[in-house]
Amino acid sequence: MTAVIARSTGLEVLAPLVPADVAELLAMYERCSAETTYRRWHGHLRAFPTAYLAALVADSDEHIAVVARREGPIVGFASAGEVAPGVREIGILVEDRWQRRGVGRALLTSIMTMSAELGTRVIQAEVRTEEAGLVGLLRTFGSTSVRTSYGVVTAQVVLRA
Ligand SMILES: CC(C)(COP(=O)(O)OP(=O)(O)OC[C@H]1O[C@@H](n2cnc3c(N)ncnc32)[C@H](O)[C@@H]1OP(=O)(O)O)[C@@H](O)C(=O)NCCC(=O)NCCS
Repeated sequence: MTAVIARSTGLEVLAPLVPADVAELLAMYERCSAETTYRRWHGHLRAFPTAYLAALVADSDEHIAVVARREGPIVGFASAGEVAPGVREIGILVEDRWQRRGVGRALLTSIMTMSAELGTRVIQAEVRTEEAGLVGLLRTFGSTSVRTSYGVVTAQVVLRA
């Protein structure tokens, strides 16, 4: 894992996910609505997938994650797993009551920075078509191509050098 990225914007602190965060992360997940978790996984997954969680906290650069805190508790997290050399797929989830308040943008900025530091040049994301606003946000990080299939937009961002 790269060095801690701690950034304060108002009440917000971003840092890499560490094993001590797991209980709090699961508590945040419990607070998310079924609609929000559906949007994250494109399916109904009320329990946080354990294999994915184990990969996130393994001390490895293969799967990295960052959490956002506001006034203490975790309110969102983003992850990026290596799917091919120089290519990572990201996932992002912000607790309902903190959405549209800049947390997602801050998380994306951190995970993109961490990924670039690890040599990633291309970021992929799969978002539901209703989430197309997020694609606009992804475009701010580099040249972005999109394809849509069965209600899912796959975006590929070539990070700026
Ligand atoms: C998608 C998600 C991570 C965005 O997080 P957020 O904290 O709400 O995002 P921000 O407040 O930082 O939004 C930044 C910008 O992204 C765009 N955006 C984010 N969510 C949007 C939405 N639902 N509709 C349209 N635009 C959206 C907007 O341009 C927004 O800027 P604005 O608020 O100034 O208009 C959050 O809604 C979420 O957790 N959704 C459920 C999980 C999910 O869909 N994950 C993506 C698939 S992995």
